[in-house]
Amino acid sequence: MGESKLVLNKDFLTEKANVTEMNYRDKSLEEYQDYINNFYAHARDGKLEYLPFINKRIKVKGKVIELGAGICWLSSELSKIKDVNEVYSLEFSEYLLKDIAPGIMKKLNAEEEKITRVQGDFNSLPFEENKFDFAFIDAALHHATDLSHMLKEIKRVLKPGGIIIAIREPVLPTWRPWCKDKFGEHDKANGITENIYSLKEWRIYFNSAGLETKMIPFMPKSTLYRRLLQPLMIFNNQLLGHFIMVAKKPF
Ligand SMILES: C[S@@+](CC[C@H](N)C(=O)[O-])C[C@H]1O[C@@H](n2cnc3c(N)ncnc32)[C@H](O)[C@@H]1O
Repeated sequence: MGESKLVLNKDFLTEKANVTEMNYRDKSLEEYQDYINNFYAHARDGKLEYLPFINKRIKVKGKVIELGAGICWLSSELSKIKDVNEVYSLEFSEYLLKDIAPGIMKKLNAEEEKITRVQGDFNSLPFEENKFDFAFIDAALHHATDLSHMLKEIKRVLKPGGIIIAIREPVLPTWRPWCKDKFGEHDKANGITENIYSLKEWRIYFNSAGLETKMIPFMPKSTLYRRLLQPLMIFNNQLLGHFIMVAKKPF
């Protein structure tokens, strides 16, 4: 088995990057170490259910980028798909890419030789246009300080017909509008960017970036609580807000 490559960069931050957030990630050593040690306990939240569900419906293949890759658990899972040749894991925290991601890649038996970890700002991707077949995002779009700009930047590096798949992004349920103020309270207090949008607002962001968009209702079934909630999925947009966001760059 080969090793994952690591590309660290200098002067890569744009004025749109939240530097406080980057420094915050770099400082949470113990928290992340605990996360690796207990990854499968944490994964009971259902995060590992998304990719098999997606890959049954949309064949994931070719060159893939993950934006805001963090500890690289999703990149690790992507690397194990046979038809995926290369995975680029883009993240601004050097600490997460260099010190934390290797442990997760090992834990998840990633095909490490397919993975290149790249330190970068998702507001200015260090790649030429039309490079990737797929762009994956796990819970990072809502950390963008300028979502329209970020989506256009992802679109730029996708091939025509290339697909963006975003999972675990917060969607504000229409019958619970008060959740907006409560969302990410603790992290916001620490200077982290935390946004929540309604489904309608998410669609407007994707469509204004020139992307064809489909929102697929999906809630993992991993916990008893989630299984009990499944019947409520008929009111998903109104009460729950669990969607996989799929967007395509037109040909
Ligand atoms: C909620 S976390 C999700 C991370 C990842 N999915 C995981 O589970 O580890 C959002 C990630 O986006 C990263 N991020 C935020 N702003 C960024 C930027 N401008 N460029 C690159 N990464 C960024 C953060 O460092 C963080 O790792």
